[in-house]
Amino acid sequence: MAAYLELTFDLGSLDPQAAEDACWDCGASAVTFVDARDDAVLEPLPGEFRLWPRTRLKCLFVQAHDASGIRRALAAALGLDPDLIGVHELAERVWEREWLRDFHPLRFGRRLWVCPHHERVAEPGAVVVALDPGLAFGTGTHPSTALCLTWLDAHLAPGACVIDYGCGSGVLALAAAKLGAARVHCFDIDPQALTAARANAGANGVARQVRVYDRPDTLPAAADVLLANILSGPLCTLAPRFASLLRARGEVVLAGLMQHEVADVTAAYATCFDVAPFGERDGWVGLAGRRH
Ligand SMILES: C[S@@+](CC[C@H](N)C(=O)[O-])C[C@H]1O[C@@H](n2cnc3c(N)ncnc32)[C@H](O)[C@@H]1O
Repeated sequence: MAAYLELTFDLGSLDPQAAEDACWDCGASAVTFVDARDDAVLEPLPGEFRLWPRTRLKCLFVQAHDASGIRRALAAALGLDPDLIGVHELAERVWEREWLRDFHPLRFGRRLWVCPHHERVAEPGAVVVALDPGLAFGTGTHPSTALCLTWLDAHLAPGACVIDYGCGSGVLALAAAKLGAARVHCFDIDPQALTAARANAGANGVARQVRVYDRPDTLPAAADVLLANILSGPLCTLAPRFASLLRARGEVVLAGLMQHEVADVTAAYATCFDVAPFGERDGWVGLAGRRH
């Protein structure tokens, strides 16, 4: 008999909190809300709990040997027909290592790499950012991060002063520091991102160059480059703020927008910047340009 049982059901019209509580009450060790179709939910705000139009719950029971008993109990607690609850046996595995299997070094441009801690890059001249996927967004696997990393590899001038606005894991800041930026200032609205960025800067030996700010109004002005990989809405709102953080002729690099949002974002930046697309990946577009 399997050591783990995974029970799944569609949330449908059930109350999410009540459904989750029912799983815990029946002895679940983990409860996960997942997308039942493929509807993107982009960047919920810190503390925001946003579900998909069709949501499924998966709950895990450890050392559970009475599958049909657990299913009946859960169905009764939820008020569902037991046939609507799927049951799968999961074999014992070293779960801490499982997720690492899918993460390998990735190259961006000519010399920049993002490499999980369990791997090595042998390439001569490689500039390596060591990063494991964690709670904060940003390991280079998303096209918008990849666009910014490729831009940095091709364009960052050594000695530059850089701002990474919406730093997530700090991946762009770490890359800028490793590519020779003199100073990199980071900010994010998510406190988990600030913690991750600080830890990642330490782990990469660039804590002296990379400074993480808790508040946006304390970021220093007159930067040479400002990177912002955020969604198009906040990017548009932040245009005047970004202009105030860059020196004249300083460069802004924007990502997190899709092809159909290019016109709106370009228009929002037109007063202070000449921005134009510099790359596109899987429908995501990068814009870059100089402050007037
Ligand atoms: C798509 S992630 C990018 C993370 C990383 N810079 C990268 O390129 O992979 C966007 C980040 O911006 C942050 N963010 C969203 N809106 C923001 C805002 N108005 N001000 C600052 N950060 C924001 C989010 O918390 C998230 O960590």
